[in-house]
Amino acid sequence: MKIIIVKNYIELSALAADFICDTLIRNSSATLGLATGSTPLGAYSHLRDRCSSGQISFKNVKVFNLDEYVELHPNSVHSYAHFMKVNLFDGTDMDLRDFHIPCGNADDLDAECKRYDRLLSANPRNLQLLGLGSNGHIAFNEPLTPFERRTHVVELAASTVADNSRLFENDSQVPRRAITMGIRDIVAAERILLLASGINKAQAVLNMIKGEVSVDCPASVLQRHPDATVIIDGDAASLL
Ligand code: F6R
Repeated sequence: MKIIIVKNYIELSALAADFICDTLIRNSSATLGLATGSTPLGAYSHLRDRCSSGQISFKNVKVFNLDEYVELHPNSVHSYAHFMKVNLFDGTDMDLRDFHIPCGNADDLDAECKRYDRLLSANPRNLQLLGLGSNGHIAFNEPLTPFERRTHVVELAASTVADNSRLFENDSQVPRRAITMGIRDIVAAERILLLASGINKAQAVLNMIKGEVSVDCPASVLQRHPDATVIIDGDAASLL
């Protein structure tokens, strides 16, 4: 695992954007695994700018997102499908037919998980971008999730619901369930880039990097990946 500690979120975002751009410049039809949440927002803003200035293009890129809330319509302003459109794709030349994300309001969620697994098997990711939960989750693979799991429906941990409530009017509106890509498919990506920023990630960063590889901290699985890079800011690195 390659660890890069930067001063702050601004540096983290610029470096993460460089990393992703490098993938797209080397392979203009790359397949990316992307994440939602606050952490990648700065990097996504750089990617939009670099796309507008012609440095990169999403025209031939395929994207597979990590997760989606259960029961939300893809057009809901709280859905992760909407998040990706507003925060990344609207500012790029991405063909939305090449954007894939589990459907949170599918009638048959088990069938939806299997459909997503088939898509993932057929479309290996060149680069998987990850954020880090304050409890060490990656995507919504909460602590104790077996590393072999594929796409599944998850009951979100209480701490995850609390962390995510900032984007809703109140706690009671935060969905309690999500569909998430499993760890097996996350680590199948050729390269992994995990970003962590802020003091509330410091313990999870410590467990991920220095703890034993264990389902207690799902992100610790990245220690076994042959090409995983972690970019963390000073606050997130403060316990290392
Ligand atoms: C989002 C995701 C989550 C977040 C994590 C950190 O698609 O899979 O694992 O990356 O919860 O969220 P933020 O970045 O909001 O702190």
